[in-house]
Amino acid sequence: MKPKVFLTRKLPPKAMEYLEENTDLEMNTEDRVLTKEELIRGVKGKQGLLCLLTDNIDAEIMEANPDLKVIANFAVGFNNINVDEATKRKIPVTNTPGVLTETTADMAFALLFAVSRRVVEGDSFVRSKTWSGWGPLQMLGEDITGATLGLIGLGRIGKAMIKRAQGFDMKIIYWNRTRLDEKEERELGVEYASFEDVLSSADFISLHVAYNQATHHLISEKEFGLMKSNAYMINTTRGPVIDEKALVKALQSRIIGGAGLDVYENEPHLEPELYELENAVLAPHLGSATIGTRTKMGMMAAENLVAALKGDIPPNIVNKVIYE
Ligand code: DGY
Repeated sequence: MKPKVFLTRKLPPKAMEYLEENTDLEMNTEDRVLTKEELIRGVKGKQGLLCLLTDNIDAEIMEANPDLKVIANFAVGFNNINVDEATKRKIPVTNTPGVLTETTADMAFALLFAVSRRVVEGDSFVRSKTWSGWGPLQMLGEDITGATLGLIGLGRIGKAMIKRAQGFDMKIIYWNRTRLDEKEERELGVEYASFEDVLSSADFISLHVAYNQATHHLISEKEFGLMKSNAYMINTTRGPVIDEKALVKALQSRIIGGAGLDVYENEPHLEPELYELENAVLAPHLGSATIGTRTKMGMMAAENLVAALKGDIPPNIVNKVIYE
């Protein structure tokens, strides 16, 4: 008998085939986020749950099925799951690290380019049919080559930013909760700086910290105040790392040059002023959105789920403590 599994939204074909072969699958067939009631109904009687970053998996959902054997997240971030509650109930929680590193770093760079070279604004200008030709002072942006990139957080994705930045002769400074040892810093070609110094001396700041209580509103009014007035903030991690109201003020009053955003504090809702600001480039959480990467994420999540249902320790467990 195959284990009963609930999937909250359709995944790429390879992962769907794997799940259909290895599990007794029930899924949300509509391309939308389920309501809490629907989630509760879905997990009832299932051994496994494969969910997305848009599903809030809290105690109530776990309570709906006290026999749940695994929660496999289709994302590297797992702030959508109450991991403490799952740990208390001895439910393994898994994520998808590694496979989306390069793709997400590409997206951070795409935003960095788009906002500082005004690509989206330029596209709108041309389409408005009001462009009357080349001008020496028209739509000037900021140089990327030779600029200073400040990385806040130096995990996998932060490190993947380094080689891209080196291709553009950028100076790279970083702040991380734990400093790397000097040998690794030399090998990577990065310089450590205090949080405040990264903010005040970088031309581009890219956020790569995980979201948790300690990083909630890590960047707010005070931090924007430290940034150069022509510096750009890039966010591909999680929206609430930035205080979005403070960001709007900083962009409106040109305290900073601009922002390239892939994530928002209350997705899919944005602070209304953001929609109007020309110095912000806004993407709809596309960090890992390539066919190749989403397929790898789907396979990883599905394999984690099936491993746990077989009684094995899943390869990408985030609460390993339950097995100790
Ligand atoms: C993740 O996996 O956490 C990403 O945000 C998905 O795009």
